[in-house]
Amino acid sequence: MENCRGLSKHMQDERIKRKLKAYPWVDVPRHEDVLDVLKKQDLSETYYKRGSGEATRDLDKVEKDYREWVKDIVDLSEFPYCYFSNGTTDALHLWQLSETREWQTLCYGEYNYPEAIGTTPTVTCDVEGQYMDPETHRSAIPGSIDSTKPLYISIPSAADGNIFDVGNTSAPVILDCTYVGSTQIKRIKVPKNTEQVFFSFSKGFGLIGQRLGLVYTKEPHPILDTLKKFENWNYAGVKTIELLINNFKVDEMWNRYREKQLEICKQYNFKPSDCFFLATTKDPYYAKRRRMKWNDDARICITPLFDD
Ligand SMILES: Cc1ncc(COP(=O)(O)O)c(C=O)c1O
Repeated sequence: MENCRGLSKHMQDERIKRKLKAYPWVDVPRHEDVLDVLKKQDLSETYYKRGSGEATRDLDKVEKDYREWVKDIVDLSEFPYCYFSNGTTDALHLWQLSETREWQTLCYGEYNYPEAIGTTPTVTCDVEGQYMDPETHRSAIPGSIDSTKPLYISIPSAADGNIFDVGNTSAPVILDCTYVGSTQIKRIKVPKNTEQVFFSFSKGFGLIGQRLGLVYTKEPHPILDTLKKFENWNYAGVKTIELLINNFKVDEMWNRYREKQLEICKQYNFKPSDCFFLATTKDPYYAKRRRMKWNDDARICITPLFDD
């Protein structure tokens, strides 16, 4: 069978596979109805006078509403403090800027931006005898987590797009939940000594350029708490978050794309990840996209196969 450009189905598939293999990033689809919500937002609404309390009123509401919105995935009841951040990137900058301790990551496939802009961590799986879990294919099991060092982890994981249980650790944890909003309702087990939890709207909602993030902490944030006292954050961003969580459920995008994800995965023999735009495969053809040590799962971003 040939398509209108004269390419056989086989040639088309080969072309797509080459594209998926070449693509190292996580990209996300955009959504018409998210665009509609943005169109309705009036930037002038948040032209508040700093110190008037209006911005704090909005942020307090978003803090509360977001807790409720995300509660079936992440229970934030032990995190009394909340701050707006310009995406998780900003939260990571501020964490690295204020972090004085040596820190660690779970595996080599972890999101490497904190390291790129900050200090170099140790990696828990960099120990002889570490192996991958045959069920989950997660590497670094059993991880030798140093209980004295802060552990940076992304759940769902940047390594393969899956929600996983890091197990019982008493290490202080910096938990990156950027991919929440791209999964079904599935609980993330928050390690008991988690200090900070980061959320973003870049992924599930395609709002990469709006820089929308929230940071929840157990103790006042070393930098954001000072800024919060001066109502120093992006007021329009807070309003956008409010509009989003009022208009969409936390698992809405997953429900919308899951069938398509399964279809694509069946066609290309991928294993669907918990995040709807990611998949994994052990096919050596995609070896370039393997991220973890002692793990032969390559992470594939299937967004190029969704209609924009
Ligand atoms: C695990 C993880 N955390 C954070 C980010 C950055 O998120 P944001 O756009 O909210 O700054 C990314 C982007 O790829 C990511 O994969």
